[in-house]
Amino acid sequence: MAQRLVARRANATLLPVPCCTRGVNQFIVPAAVSLYHQPRTRSFKSTATSNGVVSNTMQKLGDTLAENFGGAFTKLGSRQFKLDDCPDLTGKVGVVTGGSQGIGFGVAYTLLKHNISKLYIISVNEEVFQGAKTVIADELGQDKADRMFWMKCDLSDWRRVKEVAEIIKRTNDRLDILVNNSGRGIMSAELTSYGVDRHMAVNHMGHVVLTSHLLPLMQKTAEQGSIVRISNQSSNLHEAAPKDTEFASLDEINQDVGPNGQYGRSKLAGILYSRYFNRKVTQNGHPNVLMNATHPGFVSTKQSRQDILEPYPLGGYAMKYGIEPIKKDQFEGAVPTVFCATTIEDSGQYICPPCIPEEGSEMSQDDELADRLMELTRDIIADKTRMDSVDRGCPMDDTFVH
Ligand SMILES: NC(=O)c1ccc[n+]([C@@H]2O[C@H](COP(=O)([O-])OP(=O)(O)OC[C@H]3O[C@@H](n4cnc5c(N)ncnc54)[C@H](OP(=O)(O)O)[C@@H]3O)[C@@H](O)[C@H]2O)c1
Repeated sequence: MAQRLVARRANATLLPVPCCTRGVNQFIVPAAVSLYHQPRTRSFKSTATSNGVVSNTMQKLGDTLAENFGGAFTKLGSRQFKLDDCPDLTGKVGVVTGGSQGIGFGVAYTLLKHNISKLYIISVNEEVFQGAKTVIADELGQDKADRMFWMKCDLSDWRRVKEVAEIIKRTNDRLDILVNNSGRGIMSAELTSYGVDRHMAVNHMGHVVLTSHLLPLMQKTAEQGSIVRISNQSSNLHEAAPKDTEFASLDEINQDVGPNGQYGRSKLAGILYSRYFNRKVTQNGHPNVLMNATHPGFVSTKQSRQDILEPYPLGGYAMKYGIEPIKKDQFEGAVPTVFCATTIEDSGQYICPPCIPEEGSEMSQDDELADRLMELTRDIIADKTRMDSVDRGCPMDDTFVH
């Protein structure tokens, strides 16, 4: 089956990807596995002109194109990192949320290709995971597929997130890589069963619960001499967060600010969390536990081909079809995350493709906003889960939000 799926994806580079009526994993899971093996040129040369003069403006333009678009555009960046530059990961243990399709699958595939010993995939849809595992077995061998462990978990269910983290902690003596990648895309506003905006609940808060509970294991791993890396999947669309965002109250984040605003606000949270973590953890006694945020570029995935049609049934076609030819494939989109999960030595950075540190919006650099975000995050999670915490354990009762 995997062979057939891979072959279909090869066509997807030339034709618009068909709508999802055939089932999600039929066109998403194997995406670009074939592309990965296509001889697309990935050797990069200096962008300097013959007389050695490259204007800042031209270089900025080159970086912007390389950061956002795929194929030939990736050659224009002022810094380079390729998936093949990922170091050998023998002996290491990792977790990737949303690692069975889209960009997360590109990340998982690369970590396995580079010999990670054990890789947990946290996601919702088992069929999609099984499809991903089949592709890994097919492409990288059964031994690599056997290193994958699936944990079913909706990141908006914070008690389940805690449960999953506890299982990982109980059954492993180390954790080297955590990729917080799962996400709700540009979609309409919705509340979770806790009564919290779903974008914030999944994209930010669920990952905070996961990270906070896994942190003791990651700190232990770092104390034993390794560098531990956490990567949060953000987006340039963090700039679409409402300009009056204060993260002051639940009412504020439950306001419907439109699909782009909802999404942008949750992606702003991912960068602020990284900067906060850098101050509170990395710079505060744990120099070898790093957290950075990434922008993957415009990437051809279910989010940009299918989910976008939910809020924009007509306009979404521009995203689905119009820019499809210049979108990154899921492996190109995985590059900054692989860099942050395996190679970076800084913390609190916002990394754009392939490995370019960018400032991000002014709001994304505001430490006071980050402090308010994290205080609100803790308060909301504790408050919403307190009712049955005696029986089931409030995810925040026995941990620090870092
Ligand atoms: N595509 C782009 O152009 C783009 C640009 C900027 C940022 N991003 C970000 O990149 C990340 C990956 O997105 P993608 O484009 O690769 O989209 P995708 O192919 O739709 O993948 C999304 C992944 O997130 C998982 N997920 C969604 N909701 C979840 C939940 N409630 N709990 C747990 N897992 C959940 C999905 O799980 P299942 O497999 O079980 O469905 C899936 O594996 C997201 O954070 C997205 O916002 C994407």
